[in-house]
Amino acid sequence: MIKNIVLIGFMGAGKSLVSNSLAKELNRERISTDEWIEKKEGKTITEIFRDSGERHFRRLEEDLVRELSHRENLIIDCGGGVAANQKNLDFLKNNGILFYLKISPAVVYKRVKNNPHRPLLQGAEPLKKIEELLKARSLFYEQADFIIDTDTHRIEDTVREVLRLLPK
Ligand code: S3P
Repeated sequence: MIKNIVLIGFMGAGKSLVSNSLAKELNRERISTDEWIEKKEGKTITEIFRDSGERHFRRLEEDLVRELSHRENLIIDCGGGVAANQKNLDFLKNNGILFYLKISPAVVYKRVKNNPHRPLLQGAEPLKKIEELLKARSLFYEQADFIIDTDTHRIEDTVREVLRLLPK
């Protein structure tokens, strides 16, 4: 079995760009949970949150993760909330090597503040929300096999680091 490479971590950490590069580099199929769900529902994440609520979105994430736990040789780009759920984490760990792309609240804020596509951060105090969410999620994220600090890394550096850490 060739284990999946699973990227977890908060919004803005670069999971999408890094996973795209890895997929090309390793010639593997990439699955983004966000893109998969948007396609399945025929709506953007923002529309899904607006029309059906976060609970529905989280259920779609869980269904997908369960399905992916039977597949191998993938690069999986997890939306920021996917790994903040022990059941999902356990499924992902079952056949995957998990990389936590770590980012600090101030850098998240800088990277996503002008992006309207993150419904969770559209409230009045996004930085406070980022800090709260990150604090609550760290316990989950830190169960990854490897942790890579992305605050000071360029995308290429993170990609190289993942390739270096991959068990041979
Ligand atoms: C979320 C992160 C987003 C997306 C949704 C919820 C979260 O994905 O799944 O807006 O709960 O952190 P990215 O991490 O790819 O931005």
